[in-house]
Amino acid sequence: MKLNRKLFAILGLSSAVVFMAMAPVTHKADEPKFKNLKVLPKNITGEEMHKVMEEWEHALGARCSLCHERNQETNKMDFASDAKPEKQMAREMFKMTQAINKKYFHSKKDSTGVVVESNVNCYSCHRGVSHPEIIRASELPRSQGPNGQAPAGTPPPPPPTPPAGTPPPSGK
Ligand code: HEC
Ligand code: HEC
Repeated sequence: MKLNRKLFAILGLSSAVVFMAMAPVTHKADEPKFKNLKVLPKNITGEEMHKVMEEWEHALGARCSLCHERNQETNKMDFASDAKPEKQMAREMFKMTQAINKKYFHSKKDSTGVVVESNVNCYSCHRGVSHPEIIRASELPRSQGPNGQAPAGTPPPPPPTPPAGTPPPSGK
């Protein structure tokens, strides 16, 4: 945890510089205006925003309500509110992910800055859970290792039977 905080402090600092440099200069009147963006581009379109939020939802196996709170009076989601600490955490995570990709990978990104092809994204660590457990891989039984690799000398498992009606593999 201590290490995490230190890491965040360092990454936060360096990425702040990056984001200031990336901040859009112009703001067209016809673009949807989100009220409280601190890490995503201020001129992001509604469609792009939807894509990012869906990606985060899926990567964390969560709903919008993990990070966004419902206004008690109107009973509507208040997406601009920063009431939930998870929202701020997600911003830090976004900055961290950007910093890792910028510093250690030459990543392909879409217009929202989300890594589209390879390298590190939310799913790389989260794998569909909001709070990833820290696991020492060396303590896992070998057959359940991250790649599902069996120790040398183990006979290969039989190929899975494809469901009826599956076309034969195309030999890519
Ligand atoms: C993992 C956390 C997380 C999840 C899950 C999530 N969001 Fe967000 N959302 C954020 C963060 C963080 C921001 C602010 C981004 C920034 O500061 O640039 C944001 C911003 C927004 C905004 C812009 C609000 C404004 O006016 O500033 C909308 C709209 C939004 N989210 C909708 C959604 C919807 C709809 C879902 C579910 C499909 C969702 N979000 C799921 C973290 C999340
Ligand atoms: C390098 C690995 C890594 C990446 C990449 C990553 N996360 Fe995380 N995330 C973690 C870990 C580890 C934790 C748990 C931290 C802790 O124990 O305090 C966490 C916690 C969180 C939490 C708090 C959840 C909770 O239940 O406390 C949110 C929200 C979150 N991450 C969002 C994101 C989003 C959004 C992205 C992509 C933009 C992302 N993370 C990318 C490793 C990562």
